[in-house]
Amino acid sequence: MKAIKLSQIGQIARPYQWETYAVKNCLRFDTNTLPSPPPSIKRTIKGLVSINEYSDPAYRRLKTQIAAYERVPEEMITVTNSGDEAIDILAKTFLDPGDRFVVTPPTYEMFTIQCQINRGIVYEIPLAPKTFAVDAAAIIRASKKLRTKLIFLVNPNNPTGSVIPRLTVTDIVSRSSCAVVVDEAYGEFYGKTVVPLTKKYNNLIVLKTFSKFAGLAGARIGYLIANPTLSRVFDAIRFPMGVSTLSANLAEQVLNNDQPWIEKQILMIKTERKKLAKALRTLGLSAYPSEANFLLVDVGNRASSVAAKLAARGVIVRDRSTKPYLNGCIRITVRSPKENTTLIKVLEEIL
Ligand SMILES: Cc1ncc(COP(=O)(O)O)c(C=O)c1O
Repeated sequence: MKAIKLSQIGQIARPYQWETYAVKNCLRFDTNTLPSPPPSIKRTIKGLVSINEYSDPAYRRLKTQIAAYERVPEEMITVTNSGDEAIDILAKTFLDPGDRFVVTPPTYEMFTIQCQINRGIVYEIPLAPKTFAVDAAAIIRASKKLRTKLIFLVNPNNPTGSVIPRLTVTDIVSRSSCAVVVDEAYGEFYGKTVVPLTKKYNNLIVLKTFSKFAGLAGARIGYLIANPTLSRVFDAIRFPMGVSTLSANLAEQVLNNDQPWIEKQILMIKTERKKLAKALRTLGLSAYPSEANFLLVDVGNRASSVAAKLAARGVIVRDRSTKPYLNGCIRITVRSPKENTTLIKVLEEIL
């Protein structure tokens, strides 16, 4: 077991206490809420949830389902209001003002934003040019520095779509002296996960979200998977009611009913990913290899103008061309066959 260091807040945080209850449909005289939801809302959500009441602060039902989906014990799950809130919880748990966190640019920018808001100092260890491989040796060295408390790896990475081999992740986790987060927001599109390793390494935390694989971006639900001791700290740091009753219910329904649909969507996206990359090649554009539901495409110095012309025709892509390490690149989400065909058609006309 590694002695990973928690922030001062992480060491003292205690969960907010609510009344616990086991009876279904009990009368809530404990939370100062109205006895019924507003009529228009009642009609809209058709008795789906009692929106006038607070949710179960422990999200027990959802947690049980996530645990089954991820094949880990419930005590290893922390439900969060989105992957982004999960990043904030991680920053609060591990960073005191002036502590360092490692990111591997080009990568998801919210790690730096959220950790800086929490007074952390960014330590960038860039991915290799073109291959986007992580520099494991440099990351491990950085982890040994006194004030490095948190490392963020992303697998597959956003916006490159590149992956980190499992052996490299294991190497970093086992040899680093601090907490290592593996963000698997796009993990389902890759089909490989390090979730089982959270049972073995107490400094490994996996971050997930319902936004990408589960079709619930608007519901704002994410979760963290980590050893039970750390999970208790995350639970104390998160908002006690951070996830709305409605969103929790939507996530429960999806896990209960829609897993076959999710599997089909993922297969469809993987097939479309290949087709889209091929279609882009025929237009003379090269996409980097991707294991996620998007492609990073090198458009060269006309990238911004191409993105703007697409936008003017109602097709929005992510212009990353002025970002460090992403010169000339745009990121394109892989969508349905029909939508991808439209994208290619409009792109062809513009080019
Ligand atoms: C790598 C990565 N992690 C986490 C998130 C956060 O997702 P959300 O806040 O929608 O749950 C995103 C969103 O784009 C992402 O790309």
